[in-house]
Amino acid sequence: MEEPIIDYKHKTPDVQKQLEALREKPVVLDVEGAGKTFHGENGTVEALKDISFKVHEGELMSIVGPSGSGKSTLIRIIAGLETLSCGSAKLDGNTIDSPGPGRGMVFQSYSLFPWLTVEQNVAFGPQTLGSSKTDATNEAQHWIQIVGLDGFEKAYPHQLSGGMRQRVGIARALANKPRILLMDEPFGALDAQTRAQMQAYLLQIRRTIDVTILFITHDLDEAVYLSDRVLALDANPGRVAELIDVPLVRPRKPEMFSDPHFLSTRVHVGHLIHGDFPEEMKELEFLKEH
Ligand SMILES: Nc1ncnc2c1ncn2[C@@H]1O[C@H](COP(=O)(O)OP(=O)(O)OP(=O)(O)O)[C@@H](O)[C@H]1O
Ligand SMILES: [Mg+2]
Repeated sequence: MEEPIIDYKHKTPDVQKQLEALREKPVVLDVEGAGKTFHGENGTVEALKDISFKVHEGELMSIVGPSGSGKSTLIRIIAGLETLSCGSAKLDGNTIDSPGPGRGMVFQSYSLFPWLTVEQNVAFGPQTLGSSKTDATNEAQHWIQIVGLDGFEKAYPHQLSGGMRQRVGIARALANKPRILLMDEPFGALDAQTRAQMQAYLLQIRRTIDVTILFITHDLDEAVYLSDRVLALDANPGRVAELIDVPLVRPRKPEMFSDPHFLSTRVHVGHLIHGDFPEEMKELEFLKEH
């Protein structure tokens, strides 16, 4: 017999408890009525409109949405690299108006210093923040271990695989002890197998150090699998379509990809982002008309 279809809003008591515990944690990031309009050569673009959400301590929230829905703009605003046109974004109650060590960034491109070793790349932040060379090296060692790269301290970025480089990027961001880790499609350039490994690493890192994470991805399976909540955006203008609770307990395990709760949530998020049909189906509909 086929599995009954579960409403994506259905939650087991364990999941309910988990989500309630999360909501009682302090708010790290508070975005309220945020809007961003770009005035460029090609006219005016309303990239973000009336965005409001809160990220709690220890939460992993994903942001998904069609290309151009303002995901990167939003994360750049939170990083302090871009300013808001209206509304506010606060980190621990303080208005964000410039970059700072409270936010660690990991991008799709590795952005490591190619002339520095793994250890030197990771120690760079603490040293800039005032640690002595010895302390910074010790700190680097700690973070290198957390991302599972011990033994590669003296390697240079070009000697590492893409996944390993991205782990150095994560270690480097964590070494500044950010209040929130901002990740913009960090695994987007990796092959499927490496990507799955990186997801496992990220979940493990989160279990070890309980860091708060805001994570942009195009991969809806990844968004649901990793997150406590998924913020789905609409495009033109970029607006909140829905903030969805993920009805899965932690720790997450790969078996959960076939859990009915996972599937119902994944299907719902797919509908929000792609409309009524998944992307592949749309293509077929298009062919039928011609
Ligand atoms: N500096 C800028 N100047 C003018 N327009 C911009 C600028 N940055 C972003 N935009 C516009 O804002 C909108 C949102 O862009 P953004 O890069 O945030 O989208 P995104 O959701 O990250 O897309 P993708 O999934 O393709 O990465 C787009 O229409 C884009 O062209
Ligand atoms: Mg983007």
